[in-house]
Amino acid sequence: MTLAAELLEIAARIAREAGDLALRRRQEGVTVAATKSAAADIVTAADREVEAFVRAELARERPGDGFFGEESGAEQGESGITWVVDPIDGTVNYAYGIPAWAVSIAAVAGDADTAAWSALAGAVYNPVTGELFRASRDGGAWLGDRRLAVSEVGEAGGLVATGFGYDPETHGPALAQLSRVMPIARDVRRIGAASLDLASVAAGRVDAYYERGTHPWDHAAGVLLVEEAGGRVGGAPGGRPGNGMVIASSPAFFARLEPLLDYDR
Ligand code: IPD
Repeated sequence: MTLAAELLEIAARIAREAGDLALRRRQEGVTVAATKSAAADIVTAADREVEAFVRAELARERPGDGFFGEESGAEQGESGITWVVDPIDGTVNYAYGIPAWAVSIAAVAGDADTAAWSALAGAVYNPVTGELFRASRDGGAWLGDRRLAVSEVGEAGGLVATGFGYDPETHGPALAQLSRVMPIARDVRRIGAASLDLASVAAGRVDAYYERGTHPWDHAAGVLLVEEAGGRVGGAPGGRPGNGMVIASSPAFFARLEPLLDYDR
């Protein structure tokens, strides 16, 4: 078995167990533990508990690896592998009871730096639907036993998913950006979990996704899903996906979408 396949097995098992824990906590009732970057940017008690669970399981399975999680920060390892974890991506959906949230776990070669790392394995698990999206480098992207492939866009235009940051000051520019995209869009979706947006691109459920201001743990696993499904992923012009921008779609639609996204406003 390749290293990437081994890491994927670990990611997939832990994502399932972590997601099922989050689902049990959801059924018991959600408590908002704190706010982060803005009033709308919440963290629940379950986010913290689930991240602690994932971190402990990874430390048991792969003690020399590094860790980079949404709730508990970064810790460098010695093996050259770092785990990038969002315990509950789509926390606002989770808090409201909208069934679109996921555990996202990626294993990357390199330290906790999106500009330098290379993702080897990624699992995105939605415990409400029971769907586990998984990918390993050169091993394809999969949902159950179905190999995933991005969609090609027809003359009706692309079904485009996007998101809006928590900072209210970004909303005006984000809406202006969306208005520039509309001429090539058949419609727009705002699912509320970047990892599921990217998994949806990989599965051909939406034709494209773009968003400014996501964090590495939101997109690390999803970016690999799209790449392994034959898609193209990028960031600011010519660059890698990162906090500044994530764009994902088929290569042909990417070439139409990217020039419409203005990075400086
Ligand atoms: C958020 C979700 C949302 C996206 C935000 C993310 P969180 O992650 O992925 O869809 O628009 O940019 O921060 O806070 O729920 O883990």
